[in-house]
Amino acid sequence: MQFTDTLPTPPDDALSHCNQLIHQIKSEIEQQTDGNGISFRRFMEMALYEPALGYYVAGMRKIGASGDFTTAPEISSLFSQCLANQCKEVLQHLDNASILELGAGSGIMAVDILKRLEHLNCLPEFYYILDISPELKQRQKASLQRHIPHLLKKVIWLDQLPKEGFTGVIVGNEVLDAMPIDWFSIKDNQIFNQHVIWKNDYFAIHPVPAKKTLQQQVEQLKIATFPDSASQQVDYSSELNPNLSAWFNSVNQCLQQGVVLLIDYGYSRKEYYLPERTMGTLLCHYQHRCHNEVLIYPGLQDITASVDFTAVAEAASDTGMEVMGFSNQATFLAASGLEALFMQALQDDPQQQYKLAQQVRTLSLPAEMGERFKVIATAKDFSYPLSGFSLGDQRHRL
Ligand SMILES: C[S@@+](CC[C@H](N)C(=O)[O-])C[C@H]1O[C@@H](n2cnc3c(N)ncnc32)[C@H](O)[C@@H]1O
Repeated sequence: MQFTDTLPTPPDDALSHCNQLIHQIKSEIEQQTDGNGISFRRFMEMALYEPALGYYVAGMRKIGASGDFTTAPEISSLFSQCLANQCKEVLQHLDNASILELGAGSGIMAVDILKRLEHLNCLPEFYYILDISPELKQRQKASLQRHIPHLLKKVIWLDQLPKEGFTGVIVGNEVLDAMPIDWFSIKDNQIFNQHVIWKNDYFAIHPVPAKKTLQQQVEQLKIATFPDSASQQVDYSSELNPNLSAWFNSVNQCLQQGVVLLIDYGYSRKEYYLPERTMGTLLCHYQHRCHNEVLIYPGLQDITASVDFTAVAEAASDTGMEVMGFSNQATFLAASGLEALFMQALQDDPQQQYKLAQQVRTLSLPAEMGERFKVIATAKDFSYPLSGFSLGDQRHRL
């Protein structure tokens, strides 16, 4: 991924799609009579999820070489095979257990997990997929049909989380980072909520004094991270996800017994809100370019924020779930059998040596995905240790 300030111009049909969404967002801004426009969270929600137009719900290709970004399961099946090893450990302790994948992207992770579990003779009862994107659902179906037609009967697509009674593993790679966040700023010790207005034919950021709830949420971060906040001179902006608790509540409600395994880029709270990270973590992805112009090309580019894993752990604990492990991706994969899987793949196809070694490097090196990506596991009514965290459990950092 290239960090850049120059982007390729989108083709005409994409621009026309984008203009429709701009028009819709602009109308919503104009309906606000106080002149404060809409919150950035609402802007991000519309940019990513507005029915028929948002980035994740419209028909454009997002993931993979011809899309905007790539992810670990797209880089190497070794990633998903490691996850499958971890899933197996959980499944074999439970009766009639299934897997539920959140945000399954192109479907390749489902393919590789199911293939590996079949090889291990430990297929789940069902493999459920919950994805918000109609385009990606179609891609997932095509991918599963192409690679594992004989296992298609195991796969069920859902439109929402089951209300209750799910037993097994709930897994999600890079799903939390796509949730709309509150973007706040701190100036002269006052907390603002970043809003979006329409000005001189463009969207513009318009800080509005934060309401009580956001103020309290940010103050809590300040207590933890800026004991010396009175002397803090620089303007500071960052993000928080106000919906995490509600989201975890519904996950907890759906889960009767088992483990939730979430992988994403992010930090513990202490690292997330470092005083020197004065511009937060918001990023956009367009055609494998990474930049921070969040207001341009709504509907055409991905907008993401890193994950505060301390907030994830707190949200899970508040529901009564137990946090079973926290680790960086490199350590988790190493503990989940990456080396043995690599050796096996090499033995199966020695010609692939360079390619496989490159994949392992990308997944594991600290400067690539190894350190920036983290894995967290939470559990309900499940107390067996998880091997994925046996080489380095960093819950103390949360
Ligand atoms: C960054 S992609 C990651 C895809 C895939 N997990 C991977 O690693 O390649 C985010 C995925 O989450 C899905 N998604 C976003 N918000 C969601 C939500 N609220 N519920 C379920 N899926 C969601 C998107 O449609 C997309 O498939």
